[in-house]
Amino acid sequence: VLPAEAKVTWKAPSNIALVKYWGKHPNQIPANPSISFTLDACSTTTSVSFTKRDSKDTDFSFDLTFEGKSKEDFKPKVNTFLNRIDRYLPFLKEYHFNIETSNSFPHSSGIASSASSMAALALCFMDIERQLNPKMSNDFFNMKASFLARLGSGSACRSIEGDLVTWGEHGGLTESSNLYGIKYPLEVHPIFKKYHDTIMLVHKGQKQVSSTVGHNLMKGHPYAKQRFQQAHQNLDRLRSILAQGDVEDFIEVVESEALTLHAMMMTSTPYFILMKPDTLEIINKIWHFRKETKTPICFTLDAGANVHVLYPESVKEKGNQFIQDELVAHCEKGHYICDRIGNGARKL
Ligand code: PMV
Repeated sequence: VLPAEAKVTWKAPSNIALVKYWGKHPNQIPANPSISFTLDACSTTTSVSFTKRDSKDTDFSFDLTFEGKSKEDFKPKVNTFLNRIDRYLPFLKEYHFNIETSNSFPHSSGIASSASSMAALALCFMDIERQLNPKMSNDFFNMKASFLARLGSGSACRSIEGDLVTWGEHGGLTESSNLYGIKYPLEVHPIFKKYHDTIMLVHKGQKQVSSTVGHNLMKGHPYAKQRFQQAHQNLDRLRSILAQGDVEDFIEVVESEALTLHAMMMTSTPYFILMKPDTLEIINKIWHFRKETKTPICFTLDAGANVHVLYPESVKEKGNQFIQDELVAHCEKGHYICDRIGNGARKL
């Protein structure tokens, strides 16, 4: 039995996909498998306090504050999420929830907070669920938290655990599922255990096309079939790359994935471009620097203009210096975020 009232708090990280999820079926089922680095610095912290309600209502009851302020415009998203997870968490309508959430990164940074925020909220609800079922194993807890987070935002299911997470059925990974993300179960070379991701904030405004719209444009997309096949092939390729620590081939797969994601946007109907001139300037500078200095530094992109600059711990000084000298000038107001591979969400 749940106490009449209590509070739980979870901190969940963002993640950056190496093989991208772009295109989905109903119920947030991915059209292709994906794999991501869990991040560390970019995170959402969410507290959910709950109090027993008097009446058994048919609607959910919750208040929401974002960084200390009441946020009415976030409420419909949370309401949709509650509707989707209601059947898996039967206690939701019996309580009033007070949800307090904040991000470690500025709201208007062009960094999507949907993955970390949906993961943090799913974990808070799972924590309440665990109080009802105290014998629940940690594996089940993580799996169901990921399952629920997926229903909030697909990529959120990869924000429960660290440090590499894969989501979506794939022949080479028998444990993988379309319903939740799992910690990458195969061998990973130490070089990929300590990776930096410095996020260049090229454009901090809201993006013109949401990822929901983008996913839907993969329906009837002329290159959809080949793209989904390619994602499987790239996951297969990554298997030996990750095991052997082959950074050169890693770069080839990861950069190709980023550009393919944006190529899908440019070749859909309607077509659109999320990259900005500074996105391309940064990419060109990375290519030039890599060629000149043989430093294994590369980029990936999300569904936006910001550039994630990826490099191993062994070239940290060189990478940071290059970013300072050449890339920061292309960021809006010179802003960027130093992040790295992280270990997943935790309870506070
Ligand atoms: O989780 P969504 O629906 O916001 O989709 C995210 C899609 C990408 O970030 C572009 C790729 C990915 O796999 O995270």
